[in-house]
Amino acid sequence: MRVVVFISGRGSNLQALLEHQENYTISHVICNHKQAAGLNIAKNHGVATTIIPWRDAKSAEAQTLALLKKINPDLIVLAGFMRLLSAEFVANFPFKIINIHPSLLPLYPGLNTHQRVLDDRQSIHGATVHFVNQNLDQGHSISQCHINVTTEDSAETLAARLLSKEHKLLTATVDHIATGQIYWQNNHLYFNNQAINQPIVWSDI
Ligand code: GRF
Repeated sequence: MRVVVFISGRGSNLQALLEHQENYTISHVICNHKQAAGLNIAKNHGVATTIIPWRDAKSAEAQTLALLKKINPDLIVLAGFMRLLSAEFVANFPFKIINIHPSLLPLYPGLNTHQRVLDDRQSIHGATVHFVNQNLDQGHSISQCHINVTTEDSAETLAARLLSKEHKLLTATVDHIATGQIYWQNNHLYFNNQAINQPIVWSDI
C-alpha cells in the first residue's frame, strides 16, 4: 500500500509511521513549511519530499492534486498537517484521507484540545484517527486511544503523554488499513469483516 503523508512541523507521527513500514510504504511527504523538522526525518529515511507553501490555498491544492495524480497513493495521512483541505479537494479521495487528532472526537475538534480538556475538568482524554471530509475534524472516526487526566496534569504533560500513544494508534490504524482489516464499505466502517458503530480501541494502546 502506497502512503503519502502530509505534515506541517515536528513530524513525530511521521517518524513512527516510517519506523513501522512493513505492510505499507511511505512514498512521499508533502509539507507546507520549508523549515519543518519533519522534512529532515523524511530525508533521513530516503523519502521524497515536496514543499508546497499554503499561502494561497487554491493554488496549493491544485499543485498538490497534480502531484498526487502522479503518485497515485492508496492512502493519504494527515499527521500534524495544519491546513484545512477544501471540499473539492477531499472529494477526489473519498475515504482515502485520514487524520490524527488529539482528542476523543466528537469532543474538542479544532485547536488547544489539551487545555480545553483541563478547563472542563475531564477525567479522560485521548486521540482519534478519523476519515477526513470537508468539515474540520468531523469525518467518521476509525480508532481511539485514551489516557487518564490527573489533577497534576498541565496541557504540556497531557500532550506529551498522549503523543506516545498517538504514534501507536496511527501506525496500528494505517497498518490495519494496509492489511485490509479496516475498510469502509456501504456507508459503514468494517473491522475484521464486521461492520462496527464505535471507533476501534486496542487494549494495548
Ligand atoms: C499531533 O498531536 C497530532 O495529533 C496533531 O498534531 C500533532 C502533530 O505532531 N494533529 P507531530 O508533528 O506528528 O510530531
